[in-house]
Amino acid sequence: MLSAKKNQILSEVGSGTPMGELLRRYWHPIAPVLELGRRSVKPVKLLGEDLVLFRKPDGSHGLISRHCPHRGTDLSTGWVDGDIMRCPYHGWAFDSEGRCASQPFEEAGPSGGFRDKAGVSAYPTATLGGLIWAYLGPDPAPLLPDFELFSWGHGFVEIIMTELPCNWFQCHENGMDPVHFEWLHLNGNAVRSSPADPEYVPTHLSIDFLEFEHGFVNGRVVETPVVPPKGTYAGTNDVSEGGILCLWPYTLASGNTIEFRVPVDDRRTLNITWQYSVLPDDVPAGKQDQDEIPFWYGPLTDPDTGEILTSHTGNQDFSAWVGQGAVADRTTESLGRSDKGITLLRRRYFEAMEQVARGEDPPGTVRDPEANVNIQLPLMGKSLYTEGMPRRVFEEKLAARKESGLFGIGGFLTVQAGRPDHLQKEYDDIAGVAQMPAADVD
Ligand code: FES
Ligand SMILES: [Fe+2]
Repeated sequence: MLSAKKNQILSEVGSGTPMGELLRRYWHPIAPVLELGRRSVKPVKLLGEDLVLFRKPDGSHGLISRHCPHRGTDLSTGWVDGDIMRCPYHGWAFDSEGRCASQPFEEAGPSGGFRDKAGVSAYPTATLGGLIWAYLGPDPAPLLPDFELFSWGHGFVEIIMTELPCNWFQCHENGMDPVHFEWLHLNGNAVRSSPADPEYVPTHLSIDFLEFEHGFVNGRVVETPVVPPKGTYAGTNDVSEGGILCLWPYTLASGNTIEFRVPVDDRRTLNITWQYSVLPDDVPAGKQDQDEIPFWYGPLTDPDTGEILTSHTGNQDFSAWVGQGAVADRTTESLGRSDKGITLLRRRYFEAMEQVARGEDPPGTVRDPEANVNIQLPLMGKSLYTEGMPRRVFEEKLAARKESGLFGIGGFLTVQAGRPDHLQKEYDDIAGVAQMPAADVD
């Protein structure tokens, strides 16, 4: 349980707030590279700031304030003109440094215009892992961490985007909550598939966490882990041997998925899942063209009923976070032994906010270019991602998938509802398997 003041500090992301300042020390994924290949302008809201992202002819990007300094219209309704972002209202234009580059009517008059008084804010961007990233903080910007997963070559990557009507921190807390997996996902699936006679999975006995340079390792002891084909169960792991990771500032990394909880504003989160579907180990390694990593927007609700979806692992998480309210009220919660990681996470974020207030770099900051190459992470069972899945295991999992209809098994089924059919076909083609009918769960 927290005081209302502390809850507010955890939740507010605007410029000048303690958490807003902490978050402005990190790079944030804002859009798939491929999306800006298909459209050259996209409105973006990040940390409460209205921005417009645009792609220049050389493939690089600009990120500037959304509203034109002339009379305030939305620049994202304009167009890219050469290297500059043109406002549609009266034609003023801005370069990716935020400088006004054109004021057509003013420049035709006797004053010759006043470009130097008409700039906008501009922010640096970078690309990595098929995503465009932005940095909104003070100079010098830290490096964008080059985590090893962006160089893995034994999986099929896709990017899934879903905007959630809730604050980012309650989503991030999920990354330090191993016990929810047993109930929200596995026992929930058991009830959904067999309401009259659900078969609950073995229970967690204990949980544990280990902090490292870039975040926290999750550990757990589970009573008699289940095995395939039933098994979707993450079994016992000791934190010293690696585990599921909760990374600064808001990433959950399991290996099968890397999930970013990007703060849009105080009450909205852009969930970006970088799904890595493992391939059989006899498929030759090869990294995907990062500018061509496919993306899709996953629905939050069922279009027929308007109800929030709970069919897939990711959707089950969304339903839990949205269910906590737009901003979780931590003044009324009742924490227990399952919440050891939640308490640790909050304490470390309060400490990190103090570090930033003192002018220090927060945890997870990378500034050494030599260290920022293929940063190794203590993931559990990493060889699966770096070397691929043994063909025999792969075939067993395929059979289990057909039989159970469960999603999220072994990293080669989608974590969210709404995956375009063509992606399953692409994956099956690369994996060298006959295409299977879609499982009857939606
Ligand atoms: S409002 Fe943008 S040019 Fe007038
Ligand atoms: Fe979950």
